[in-house]
Amino acid sequence: MTGKPRKQIHLAAHFPGVNNTTVWADPASASQVEFESFVHLAKTAERGLFDFFFLAEGLRLREHRGRIHDLDVVGRPDTFTVLNALAGVTDKLGLAGTINSTYNEPFELAKQFASLDHLSGGRAAWNVVTSSDAFTGENFRRGGYLEHGQRYQRAAEVVEVTRELWDSWAADTLVIDRAAGVFAREVPETRHRGAQFDIAGRFVLPPSPQGHPVLLQAGDSDDGREFGASAADAIFTGHGTLEAGQRFYADVKGRLAKYGRTPDELKILPAATFVLGDSAQDAEERARHIRLQQVGPQTAIAFLEQVWGRELSGYDPDGPLPDVEPTDNVDITRGRVRHAKDPRAVAADWRARAEAENLSIRELIIEVTARQQFVGTPAAVAEQIDTYVQGDASDGFILVPHLTPGGLDEFVDGVVPELQERGSFRTEYTGTTLREHLGLRHPHRHSTVHEGARAS
Ligand SMILES: Cc1cc2nc3c(=O)[nH]c(=O)nc-3n(C[C@H](O)[C@H](O)[C@H](O)COP(=O)(O)O)c2cc1C
Repeated sequence: MTGKPRKQIHLAAHFPGVNNTTVWADPASASQVEFESFVHLAKTAERGLFDFFFLAEGLRLREHRGRIHDLDVVGRPDTFTVLNALAGVTDKLGLAGTINSTYNEPFELAKQFASLDHLSGGRAAWNVVTSSDAFTGENFRRGGYLEHGQRYQRAAEVVEVTRELWDSWAADTLVIDRAAGVFAREVPETRHRGAQFDIAGRFVLPPSPQGHPVLLQAGDSDDGREFGASAADAIFTGHGTLEAGQRFYADVKGRLAKYGRTPDELKILPAATFVLGDSAQDAEERARHIRLQQVGPQTAIAFLEQVWGRELSGYDPDGPLPDVEPTDNVDITRGRVRHAKDPRAVAADWRARAEAENLSIRELIIEVTARQQFVGTPAAVAEQIDTYVQGDASDGFILVPHLTPGGLDEFVDGVVPELQERGSFRTEYTGTTLREHLGLRHPHRHSTVHEGARAS
């Protein structure tokens, strides 16, 4: 045994949808817009003592080959509306919303997140994203689009102003002179002059229970990582395998010192899916079946078309890869982060893999789109998760179930007790705020109340 204390695992529940992880064809799948679905997942996560519930955000319906891409979720209710409603039916669970910093104003964001923090008793979190494309920007004022570097400059300043607004009441003074009937709050004016914002005014809400709602960041470029290291409390990442996770973890935590921060002040939370079974073989069979449902014939061709940049509907999904070359048409799919930076190199790599392993189009797409996945009995999955966390590949996971809304049920019933048994996961909530669940400091607050006559 080493003297290193056992790390405690942080778990979050990602509301399914957004991409083809969710199996809509399953008879157990329910609506992605009805409140009951959100309630079910949130209550399950709270029963499992999770740190928080998580909503992703899409601001424009995705299009593929000029039509709405309806192979995965189409349409999601507004994030703040859902989270505020969930605050009323949950008690301890953190409530995290993905909200874009490119298209929103800091005053409005500060008010919305402070409100959620007040209404939930200190459980609000903001996943700051910058958006990846001009296509989404078309929905906004003057197109709302900014080049990549500028998006992060704006994000940093949005967060800076938001925090100034949240802090502005910290130095306030509530003057109470009962005899004279004076109840006066002196709130200093917030004045911010920067490259992006020139703002003067008084913030409209008193400090919320967390002072600063928890800040998450998702975005993997160098700028994105730097922004996360400088400003975020947690990073949501796709680097979920053991080696990639350890590299990412070391990279980002290594950036903290220059901002005067310690490794504990930033949690790394990769996305992960899971498949459970009564035996290892049962779980493997279920996982294979789910992957076939997630990558149906049409989805396989759509993925291929994204890389090839051309219509390939004439190709048999159960046949070999196309012999035609990819084009530079990056707009075949719009509203989705495009990962193939060099389509010809990706196509060459995929052809080599398909040939070496004798894979059809669909089988290849199943392989190349496989996400971090924990597969096994509840005890085996608990062991895998614990190994990743104790091995510094992450501080926990944002779990993405494949079914809406019941996909987390068997994890909470089966895996959580195993993690508790291992001493790596809480057996009850010890705090009330999300900052406390995540082991993060509350920002310093120093409001003062003066009883007596007001100095004139
Ligand atoms: C794990 C992960 C999850 C993301 N989730 C969302 C999301 O829900 N909504 C959104 O608009 N962008 C989302 N993004 C996109 C990022 O916020 C960012 O805009 C994009 O990755 C471009 O930034 P980058 O170049 O730093 O990666 C996500 C990115 C990552 C890595």
